[in-house]
Amino acid sequence: MAVTREQIIEALRTVEDPDLKQDLVSLNMIKDLQVEGHQVRFTVELTTPACPLKEMIRNACLEAIYHKISRELRVDIHMTSQVTSAWKKTPVLPEVKNIIAVASGKGGVGKSTVAANLAVSLAKMGAQVGLVDADIFGPSIPTMFNCEHEQPGVKNVNGKNVIVPLVQYGVKLISIGFLMSAEDAVVWRGPMASKALQQFLGDADWGALDYLIIDLPPGTSDIHLTLVQSVPVTGAVIVTTPQKVALADAKKGLAMFRQPQINVPILGIVENMAYFTPAELPEHKYYIFGQGGGKELATKTQVPYLGEIPLVQSIRESGDNGYPAALKTGEHGESTPEQEAFETVAHELARQVAIRNARGTKTKTVEIKT
Ligand SMILES: Nc1ncnc2c1ncn2[C@@H]1O[C@H](COP(=O)(O)OP(=O)(O)OP(=O)(O)O)[C@@H](O)[C@H]1O
Ligand SMILES: [Mg+2]
Repeated sequence: MAVTREQIIEALRTVEDPDLKQDLVSLNMIKDLQVEGHQVRFTVELTTPACPLKEMIRNACLEAIYHKISRELRVDIHMTSQVTSAWKKTPVLPEVKNIIAVASGKGGVGKSTVAANLAVSLAKMGAQVGLVDADIFGPSIPTMFNCEHEQPGVKNVNGKNVIVPLVQYGVKLISIGFLMSAEDAVVWRGPMASKALQQFLGDADWGALDYLIIDLPPGTSDIHLTLVQSVPVTGAVIVTTPQKVALADAKKGLAMFRQPQINVPILGIVENMAYFTPAELPEHKYYIFGQGGGKELATKTQVPYLGEIPLVQSIRESGDNGYPAALKTGEHGESTPEQEAFETVAHELARQVAIRNARGTKTKTVEIKT
């Protein structure tokens, strides 16, 4: 039987993206629709790389067409993805779709570890990813990416010298650690640190990116304000550990982004060091710092819970050795529980970014009047 484009579009109007809660046609996700006799071809363009719902959405499309039109049709669906963005175009970083700040209230809870592993996990999913080490006084990204002794290049673009980020494990990187020793940066005053961050954002050749992750220093500092005033931040990820003290500080960190004059959405909470798993007893989970605190905080503050990362020796070792745990497979090439934990959080983060962008509110640079 012959079928028309309109019939296919009508059928696909009944298929919803489960996250964005709208149909695929209204979301403009159906591309390159071709109809010839009983042969139908189209592409579904999802909004997150390696969307875990890919198969489910493909099956829902097939079912809608079979059910609404006919099972006799030959339907060929190509699934692809295009990360979305929702911001007011600014002259700084016009080709970067999403800027994600990784923050915490308390120090040492694993922001840099989470930022580094999320960056490589997103890159592994096929996204274009950059990572800025904004911890000017205590940079850790060079060690975590095993490029402590490397230096980014400089190139001249339209008469201006710009920094060329290093690329390691598929992620573009910039850190103050590439430009000077930690001892030299420590004596800087706040305004110099802010200036350095502005240069990392505005005077670097980032090119087109789906996600630019910013690893922030602990607490709430001038650097946080510089960030939100320099570029439109899509949202913040808050890292916490399960202890009461860490959760209380996480709440303060979260509140800072929510202040009316800043108003950066919280994309979610990650609970790091959620439980301890000894290498020789991989099935065991010991909740040594308490259980469920991160999830509870997420519920109370009405923000998404992105997931939990175990406390395991290999995560610490990977950080020290410069090869992120999210990339490290088991002895026989199998994925490890810590790798899967980072992947789950990365998927969930990409999903929350897509949901945030679909809401239609534009991300803006923050203007703070003093
Ligand atoms: N899930 C984990 N399992 C084991 N070790 C971890 C885990 N997360 C972080 N660590 C280790 O804890 C230490 C602190 O982590 P990290 O530097 O990422 O914290 P941070 O929040 O960025 O610290 P700072 O506030 O100083 O920037 C590091 O040695 C890191 O390897
Ligand atoms: Mg850090």
